[in-house]
Amino acid sequence: MRISIADTIKDPSGVIAVFVTKGKTLSKSARDLDKRTGKALTRAIEASKFKGDKGQMLDVVAPAKVEAARVLLVGMGDAGELKTLTVENAAGSIIGRVKDIGPAAVSIMADDLDGCALEHDDFAAHLAYGANLKSYRFDKYFTKKGSNHKAPSLKRAVVVTESAKGVRAAYRPLDKIAQGAFFTRDLVSEPANVLYPESFAEECRKLESLGVEVEVLGEKEMGELGMGSLLGVGQGSARESQLVVMQWKGADEDSKGAPVAFVGKGVTFDTGGISLKPPGGMEMMKWDMGGAGAVTGLMKALAGRKAKLNVVGVIGLVENMPSSTAQRPGDVVTSMSGKTIEVINTDAEGRLVLADALHYTQDRFKPQFVINLATLTGAIITSLGNEYAGLFSNNDELSERLREAGEAEGEKVWRMPMGDAYDKMIKSGIADMKNVGSGGKAGSITAAQFLERFIIKDTPWAHLDIAGMAWTDSAKPTVPKGGTGYGVRLLNRLVADHYEG
Ligand code: BES
Ligand code: MN
Ligand code: ZN
Repeated sequence: MRISIADTIKDPSGVIAVFVTKGKTLSKSARDLDKRTGKALTRAIEASKFKGDKGQMLDVVAPAKVEAARVLLVGMGDAGELKTLTVENAAGSIIGRVKDIGPAAVSIMADDLDGCALEHDDFAAHLAYGANLKSYRFDKYFTKKGSNHKAPSLKRAVVVTESAKGVRAAYRPLDKIAQGAFFTRDLVSEPANVLYPESFAEECRKLESLGVEVEVLGEKEMGELGMGSLLGVGQGSARESQLVVMQWKGADEDSKGAPVAFVGKGVTFDTGGISLKPPGGMEMMKWDMGGAGAVTGLMKALAGRKAKLNVVGVIGLVENMPSSTAQRPGDVVTSMSGKTIEVINTDAEGRLVLADALHYTQDRFKPQFVINLATLTGAIITSLGNEYAGLFSNNDELSERLREAGEAEGEKVWRMPMGDAYDKMIKSGIADMKNVGSGGKAGSITAAQFLERFIIKDTPWAHLDIAGMAWTDSAKPTVPKGGTGYGVRLLNRLVADHYEG
């Protein structure tokens, strides 16, 4: 599907989407169409439950006297409360509906709504953004069209505005963020026979064309750095583990500002290792690299829109396999920090990867903050479902900023407790710590306590457990089923609101 922004309707015989606010208040285009069709829209509204509430839609099929195949009435709720996220969701829902119905083109009429506080150019640009986010498909492995796979019927969406030039300018950076999120979705959706540590690292290299510096460390280099924790996880796999370091240097030359740092768990497949997972649902573990995928997509978004700050992205890429060379329960490994770890359960591998990736990142870059993302625990899905990522942090300001960014972007986080009582649960009888908590309680928190032991001094740190967020089995207004791209919008917003310029 192609998205464009234009001054006039390009496809008069397609679907025309118009807005209605609370109290059945029609937008200007809706009023025009109502008049031309002899009040067909008003009559359709009166014959339905449609009130113009947020999330409501009403489809008026083939109204007389106009060329349009359908007029889609889209409820926006109270115009005074309109946020960019509501606008994006409305556009995404339009695309979802038109995809289902089948017409090839839709025109979204970006009329200013009385009482709306958003600038016109932003309002219309966020319509295009929402439509774009929803248009994503991952269909490269279908070889023919059939019941599983239909060719996309919707070919074109046009946002119609009186200020096409201004709207295009406002849309440009948003499109870069979408391209970043799409990169994440692609990486997350890709199966593990195609996306493994080395091929993932090759994908990262593609960011060089945007000006991102990319370094790839192999097992030899990581061995020399003493990354026994990360390497232990990958040692059962025929695929070589990799650590990818991506740098975007967007700050002004004279600003010597420390970078902000993002670290991702990139387990390209998690069988559990010798502590093997049961077969049911194990295919989901192809997306156990969702944290690394988010960091990589974020780097693409920030470089794409030439963000004015220095950013480091570090991802630890391993495959967790059972084999005669695999790590065993009871093994003791030494991390780059020097701390030793008793590996009780080889399925608690993400924290072992992050321990070295986090230490390396802080040690080398001395960042303003470090945020890590990981599909770390099943327990966070038990706690928060698929609504919020778990947030664990040593810093109230960073936590509050993440919470606000998440609300604004629809990528929400919920802060969870930490503390000494939980930290005690990872004491080991043979090493500095063990990789799972005693008693199997508070599994997401003990995982976070483990990570915190690798935070150097008082570096502001946040851990996002995104196990419930990286993938969705049900379509959302701007997110089709599959890899969600969670984290790209959240962290792009965090950076844009507080660390740029
Ligand atoms: N990758 C999993 C966590 C996960 C589960 C992600 C479901 C997405 C969906 C992680 O490596 C894992 O296996 N965690 C274990 C930890 C346990 C052994 C302490 C878990 O959650 O069961
Ligand atoms: Mn695991
Ligand atoms: Zn895992």
